[in-house]
Amino acid sequence: MAALLRLQRPAVRAVGLKRPLAAFSSTAPPLWGGKGGTYGSTEGTVGSANLPWNDLGFDYIATNGHVRHTWKDGKWDDGVFVREPYINVHILANVFHYGQALFEGLKAYHTKDGDVSVFVNQKCRKRMSHGTARMHIPQPSERMWMDALEEVVRQNVAFVPPYSSGGALYMRPFIFGSGPKLGLGPSSEYTFIVFCNPTGSYYGSGGMQALDCLVNDQYDRAAPLGAGDCKAAGNYAADLESMMATKKQGYPISLYLDAREKRYVEEFNTSNFVAITKDGKYLTPHAPRSVLYSTTNSVLRQIARDMGMTVEQRPIDFEAEVDNFAEVGAVGTAVVVTPIKSFTRGDKKWQMGEPKVLKELHDRVRAIQKGEMEDKHGWMHQVKLFDDHTSKLLSVYPPL
Ligand code: COI
Repeated sequence: MAALLRLQRPAVRAVGLKRPLAAFSSTAPPLWGGKGGTYGSTEGTVGSANLPWNDLGFDYIATNGHVRHTWKDGKWDDGVFVREPYINVHILANVFHYGQALFEGLKAYHTKDGDVSVFVNQKCRKRMSHGTARMHIPQPSERMWMDALEEVVRQNVAFVPPYSSGGALYMRPFIFGSGPKLGLGPSSEYTFIVFCNPTGSYYGSGGMQALDCLVNDQYDRAAPLGAGDCKAAGNYAADLESMMATKKQGYPISLYLDAREKRYVEEFNTSNFVAITKDGKYLTPHAPRSVLYSTTNSVLRQIARDMGMTVEQRPIDFEAEVDNFAEVGAVGTAVVVTPIKSFTRGDKKWQMGEPKVLKELHDRVRAIQKGEMEDKHGWMHQVKLFDDHTSKLLSVYPPL
């Protein structure tokens, strides 16, 4: 009933917008590019952007805008809500030359009760803080982080995929050195942005369709004492050539081993590695300086423990242990839990089993995200959308 009431709430206008806003129309082309978005207004309710909710993949869709903060003279400003997905940045900005940039990924869900909640945002905030320390970037305050996430959800509520679709509003906080700098050194200015994009399945296969994986012997993802444990933009740039070479060989995904010995499991191009062993343990690598801390992996470990499973986080010798893997999954915010069907390394091939335990873990995490299962670890944070008195969308940022 609560869900129905919220969905039927009349369209309301965001507080404080100066420019007149175009009305929603399912046929209006997006002003800012991207496919299918019905850009135009911060009015609306969950799903009212009228996208093909059941067929979303992981592609850019224009939305209503983003939140932007600037750090200058030793402090962060109060931030603005910006409608255009463009930014004017100095050509000598640190991000372009020295790659001083980090990003995050989390999702907001429309739940069974009709609320909109963001999942594990504090785990992401901590991961970004780890990266900001490593990349010498000033850390956004917790208040800034929360305000920005909530504002972006509210102003883009029309782009939150409806509960029944299984989609999510992917949230992308990112931060970079935006001040001009010729010699190598920390930037004089930083920009912190949160934007969002409605998404469905990352690998386009939907649900739990399994992928064939190539063991990556041609490239390393991270040096033993490098920055592989940070969600640094450069780690993903360095993966592109390897990812394309993998695809050329007919594999949608590859697995990186450790750079020193090419022996121990690290992670996939896009996500962490989890195996369910033949004796029913949850096994995932321990390589805290080179494998990215995955919020999804940490949630799945907890769910596995709640299910009574033994969780082992330790170095995994791939060839010595692969015959002991009953199931393997690539796990992450974007891919959720994507099962691996086989591993190929040179002329060797190993077949993995059906994802039974992984499916149970996947279904449980999805049930928590959809508000169908108790969130006993406090991973969901409900975003307050409307002002109780005026019924208008809340807004704490002025428009640019
Ligand atoms: C995520 O899972 O959120 C990521 O950032 C991975 C990226 C390749 C989409």
